[in-house]
Amino acid sequence: MKENFYVTTPIYYTNWIPHIWHSYSSIIADTIARNNKINWKKIKFCTWVDENSQKAVIAAEENGMPTMKYLDLMASKHRAVWDGLKIEYTDFIRTTESRHHEFVKSVLQKSFDNGDIYAGEYEWMYCVGCEGFKKDDDLVYLNKTTKETFPIKKEIKVSDNIIKVCPDHLTTPDTIKEKNYFFKLSKYQEELEKFYDENPKFVIPSDRFNEVKAFTKRGLEDFSISRETNKFGITLPFDEAQVTYVWYDALFNYLTVCQNWDEGFWPADLHVVWKDIIRFHAIYWPAMLISAWYELPKQILTTWFFTVDGQKISKSLWNVIDPVEFSETYSKDLLTLYLLSSFNIGQDWDFDQKQAILIYNAKLANNLGNLVNRVVVLTLKLALEDWLEWSDIILDPDLLIWKWENDYDFDSNMKTYNLKWALDHAFKYLDEINKYVDTNEPWQMIKDENKRDETKEVLYTIAEWLRQVGLSLYVFFPEKMWEMFIKLGLENYVEELEEWNLQKLRDATEVFHIKEKWEPLFKRFDV
Ligand code: ME8
Ligand code: MG
Repeated sequence: MKENFYVTTPIYYTNWIPHIWHSYSSIIADTIARNNKINWKKIKFCTWVDENSQKAVIAAEENGMPTMKYLDLMASKHRAVWDGLKIEYTDFIRTTESRHHEFVKSVLQKSFDNGDIYAGEYEWMYCVGCEGFKKDDDLVYLNKTTKETFPIKKEIKVSDNIIKVCPDHLTTPDTIKEKNYFFKLSKYQEELEKFYDENPKFVIPSDRFNEVKAFTKRGLEDFSISRETNKFGITLPFDEAQVTYVWYDALFNYLTVCQNWDEGFWPADLHVVWKDIIRFHAIYWPAMLISAWYELPKQILTTWFFTVDGQKISKSLWNVIDPVEFSETYSKDLLTLYLLSSFNIGQDWDFDQKQAILIYNAKLANNLGNLVNRVVVLTLKLALEDWLEWSDIILDPDLLIWKWENDYDFDSNMKTYNLKWALDHAFKYLDEINKYVDTNEPWQMIKDENKRDETKEVLYTIAEWLRQVGLSLYVFFPEKMWEMFIKLGLENYVEELEEWNLQKLRDATEVFHIKEKWEPLFKRFDV
């Protein structure tokens, strides 16, 4: 029986089409899902849109559209992006769906009945851009003329020209005073701290977890979970005049899709989120789950912050890179390679298109593509009738040790989500093959009739190494690796990889029926 593996992406707001960095979260989740799939697990991989937000209502107005019509349009655009990038999600859900509304109402009722939700008067600042409540120390001063910002603590003379704004959106938060319902987060402080102690890898990388723990230690405050003035969203089951706070609703989406409890996908194995929303996921979310009697997710993987050409990504700057357009111009492999191999998951990064092309040309087009081409061409030149005769070629023991080490390092890095290290290993392996080829020069060998057997052995060795590297790289570049397997005469791999255990294929002894010359595996791009 296969074990389950459940991974999620963040639930994206739809006041925008997805940016290249939304695709970063989705590509990470997709890669992790695939790795588990070929390691004999049953996968649930969900992606979604966060629709019950004020941002969306405002964006619809700006576009002169009724809210629902706008949301339908944007949801289809989001879905088209994930399909365009061939993200292999198993569920796509919108928070406006009735299955989600019903479920959120049921969990709210549970927490209300538990005494964890109570009514109160509320006055606070709210930033629509963040869909989050703000305190003075969350804000900065903005000089309206110079557009400079500086910390609020600094002693300055406040004037009309100097206003308090959200540091991310540079807008003044709304001041809200209304009746709200609150969630008793403070009640869960101890339980959360105990949970963090018992689950030292709950949030990775660890720096982010330390921040979460420090924040919790300073003391958790109850937070508002409803709005009186909003009309769009999920109404509270115990007070129809109030709409649920967007975060309380959105987080439960992770669970809405698991209601087929027999399938046993909850608790989630992994939430992929970025650092800006870690508090919601590592503090609010577990408390909300405990309150409604659900198990807690096993792990949260946090990505960092991105800029494009050194600038913050924003709608007004028009530096939004459409991931589908980008991968159509270049390729999905270029995008994946750049995003997953040039920096670690827990690092801030600036997106550099030129660099992306250079890395792709070097690693995929040259190191891998040329090698595949070479082995195919030389094998055809040798005019082998049948490679089957060769199955008795014994691979040299150094190669086997290399392979075992590589498999071990690759797998352990994949398991701990060090995707960059795993990729680095595969490419190091590839470098070794290239060195082996340069030393043996099979293109010279082939000219000597007396060296036919030796040439065969060298070519077989290269093909076998490529097969091994391909089995690792498959997780990252599934289509291209299928193509490579087909070029190497391993047509059956298309099905086997999806259904088999990766380890079985690694340990198999294969024969390579190379029959024809193909187009190069990877197209090169000019910078
Ligand atoms: O926050 N750098 O949605 P969202 C890196 N609906 N990653 C970025 C990024 C940047 N500059 N901008 C966006 C929300 N992302 C909520 C989530 S989950 C219950 C609710 C990525 O559309 C990042 O992965 O504003 C982030 O988590 C995701 O886009 C969602 O952004
Ligand atoms: Mg955001």
